[in-house]
Amino acid sequence: MNQIFKLTSRRNFLFALGALAASSTVVISRILERHQDIEALDNPQRNFTVTQELSLKQRAAAKGLFYGTTSTKSLLAANPAYMAAIVENCSMFVPEWEFKWTAGDTTLRPGFDKFDFTAADWIADFAATHKLLLRGHTLVWHESLPKWFKDTVNRENAQQLLQNHIQTVVKRYAGKIHSWDVVNEAIEPDDGRDDGLRITPWLESLGTNYIDLAFRLTAEADPKALLFYNDYGLDYDTPKHEAKRTAVLKLLERLKSKDTPIHGLGIQGHLSPGKYKFNSQKLRQFLADVASLGLKIIITEMDVADNYLPQDITLRDRIIAATYEDYLSTVLDETAVIAVLTWGLSDRYSWLGEFKPRSDKAAVRPLPLDQKLRRKLAWNAIARAFDNAPIR
Ligand code: XIL
Repeated sequence: MNQIFKLTSRRNFLFALGALAASSTVVISRILERHQDIEALDNPQRNFTVTQELSLKQRAAAKGLFYGTTSTKSLLAANPAYMAAIVENCSMFVPEWEFKWTAGDTTLRPGFDKFDFTAADWIADFAATHKLLLRGHTLVWHESLPKWFKDTVNRENAQQLLQNHIQTVVKRYAGKIHSWDVVNEAIEPDDGRDDGLRITPWLESLGTNYIDLAFRLTAEADPKALLFYNDYGLDYDTPKHEAKRTAVLKLLERLKSKDTPIHGLGIQGHLSPGKYKFNSQKLRQFLADVASLGLKIIITEMDVADNYLPQDITLRDRIIAATYEDYLSTVLDETAVIAVLTWGLSDRYSWLGEFKPRSDKAAVRPLPLDQKLRRKLAWNAIARAFDNAPIR
């Protein structure tokens, strides 16, 4: 018995050792592969110089484009230098929290029949004071819903709630909004529906027509605003992104076929070099397909996550800058693209510090200005992309 036990345990040990060797080989090859990917992303000789002392908004305007960013009432009110940097560089602004149902320290919708416009009015006044074109973000989203929503909203009252929300909010700012993200992130092929729609409280309570309804209500409340559908995960050469591009395009085609009052697609543009492969041709084709529907395009929330990049700041900044310039030189070739907004202007206030932190705990560096509001290579990269873009 003892002999058999010894043989069995020896066999199991060798099996475990083999499995460990195999799995560590896989891990090591993945690390090497990622290292090669990173090396392929970096070109130490790449030139990011810019000419002329012009701001980003001036360089964008020279090509008939707008450049903007997001921030919050709390940050702007407490940081005059940051506000000044935004006003200097931006011709467009989108509030990060204040036009959502609830987000951060702000609640536009404290109750089923209640509104608190204090923060949203402050943002609208800030934009008007500094002549910033204002984007409304966002009327219908499955995130940023107040606590009372899930226990209160049902098939019987959802349409009344949506109608009241859109008519009340959109009418209040009618004439002050350049464009609304009417519906945000409504596509998720992994939810398994043939139409690719994300299964959300809005879909479950109102049915598939909620998107068309939201656009019609918004158009009726502010006939001047451009109305956009906004989504993420559309940028890279992966099966998931390809499936999402296909599903978004089908949604846009369905809406256009129903004469839904939609004017454009917002592509969020949250990029992740070192995680996904970028294929310029595939993105160009998608942009051309969207433009062929007569739709405009805005890159609505661009940033470059660095949580898959090495810690070295010089190398990281170079790869982040190259990512900005390669992506923007691709998208700006499509003249249906009318604006680019980064999701923040300074690394100090990027949501990625919390949402995509680095495993080495180093501060993230995704945006055009550093923590001290100094220009980085990323700023140069965006400037160069505007300088080299075709005129609209
Ligand atoms: C994020 C904000 O940056 C965070 O501060 C907030 O807590 C959650 O929302 N896609 C969107 C944006 O459309 O509204 C999200 O903004 C980022 C992802």
